[in-house]
Amino acid sequence: MAARTPAAPTPAIPATTVSADRITVQSGDGRLKVLFVASEVAPFRKTGGLADVAGVLPRALRQRGIDIRVVMPLYQGIQWNNLEQLDGTLAVPMYFGHARAGVRMGRLPGTDLPVYFIEYNRFFDRPYVYGPPGQAYSDNLERFAFLSRASLELCKTIGFIPDVIHANDWQTALVPVYVNTVEWSKPLHGAGTVFTIHNLAYQGNFESGAMFITGLGFEHYNPYEFEHFGDMNLMKAAIRHANLLSTVSPTYAREIQTSGYGFGLDGELALRGHDLRGVLNGIDTRDWDPAHDPNIAAPYNAADFSAKATCKAALQQQLGLALRPKVPLFGVVGRLTAQKGFDVLAHALERIFHWDVQIVLLGNGDHEAEAFFRYLASRRSDKFRAFIGFDEGLAHRIEAGSDFLLMPSRFEPCGLNQMYSQRYGTLPIVRGTGGLLDTVVNYDQATGNGTGFIFWDLNPGAIVDTVGWALSTYIDRPAHITAMRKRAMEQDFSWDRAAAAYEQLYREAFKIRRGQEFK
Ligand code: ADP
Ligand code: GLC
Repeated sequence: MAARTPAAPTPAIPATTVSADRITVQSGDGRLKVLFVASEVAPFRKTGGLADVAGVLPRALRQRGIDIRVVMPLYQGIQWNNLEQLDGTLAVPMYFGHARAGVRMGRLPGTDLPVYFIEYNRFFDRPYVYGPPGQAYSDNLERFAFLSRASLELCKTIGFIPDVIHANDWQTALVPVYVNTVEWSKPLHGAGTVFTIHNLAYQGNFESGAMFITGLGFEHYNPYEFEHFGDMNLMKAAIRHANLLSTVSPTYAREIQTSGYGFGLDGELALRGHDLRGVLNGIDTRDWDPAHDPNIAAPYNAADFSAKATCKAALQQQLGLALRPKVPLFGVVGRLTAQKGFDVLAHALERIFHWDVQIVLLGNGDHEAEAFFRYLASRRSDKFRAFIGFDEGLAHRIEAGSDFLLMPSRFEPCGLNQMYSQRYGTLPIVRGTGGLLDTVVNYDQATGNGTGFIFWDLNPGAIVDTVGWALSTYIDRPAHITAMRKRAMEQDFSWDRAAAAYEQLYREAFKIRRGQEFK
């Protein structure tokens, strides 16, 4: 994006003392330098797919020779004693003065890729990442404005001047705005910015009166930056300020430019449609590999998946369901929010229970949904189990042990579970939206082709019909199911393709910012 009017310079930053000689990179070593900022990064802390992406994409980019470094908060529960504490403190300019933050450094597992943890206990030493289930901490704007600002201060302090800065979702939406404003005339202003939307449903909406918390003047509260229908909207500001925009699947990139999926930002996104790319997520094929998964009962692969039956039996046993190999087992995993369509599924289940099936649900979130599924599990203990909570191991066992995975999403920017399930030979039954449409090939009854089952309308009838279709295929055309499982397991969902696309995006952002190719 073209440079904007410079804002008033920020007050001089008191000398900081973080010494990081060993990690300072001399500019001009020929490698593209990228700062990747995210509010959650697996395996350190995760609430959803953003963490999965932030934990793996940088690794794939590193393998392409990019000097990429990750920044996230030091949350409660992160094993800080395994991290190296950098000397001194970061002085982060905030509206209340300079906040002094510690910095700890770790590595993405299995790599030499630095992850910097911003340590500021007042904001991050809390039991939840964003707030208790169904709620948001009242100072989230402050917390994430701080993270955004701190990540830029960190770069300057350790002498890592990135060529490109990649921010993700509303929590780090201020990063591209700061680069265009408070970093004006400072070295970071030369960094191209990429902003990725993982989920447009969360935009960072706050009262206009909170504008001061960003540290930016009220002159930025205007319809071309933060103001959106009378509120302050962080994502809108990022959409306006970032050099390039991306989202996590090609279909979602198109959908969010329409009123049905744009959550009020469709006009803004259409305005920048030329700069908005859909890059399909990959998955961590090491963590999610049925051939080497310590969480599951027996290993298997696409060449021989007979041991999948062992995983199914082990799951049935763990769940206390009847040990019946021939009854189809349906898995459901995900956040219990409106996005995932589980409210509609709730209305379909009674009819699905008329069939001889078993269903297991793992999820947490919305209180009402949690209570409903608990209640249903107590009433239909013959066929239904609900685990309300977050359990990585169980998620793996469900992907491995189920025959089908249900994802009736209302909208789905990308979705990872349907890719995990295919890798485990578990056929996804999905609504045809967003990344689900880009990753699942609908079953063709005439040829047996496909990797899953797709329905279009989000209503209980459509879910019941499609579950019924899967069920009849399972019973009447088992050879099709076997061929589909194998095909699904052979899909390439690795990050290599996406990493190449992100590298391209970074080079393009650099060119927009600097007016020349990165060399
Ligand atoms: P979203 O990011 O919208 O939640 P994704 O499908 O992209 O959806 O990613 C969700 C990730 O979180 C997956 O890795 C999934 O296995 C995991 N997950 C969601 N809910 C749970 C849960 N209750 N227990 C364990 N893992 C979960
Ligand atoms: C979001 C989306 C999900 C996507 C994930 C990672 O949380 O809801 O569809 O897979 O981000 O990009």
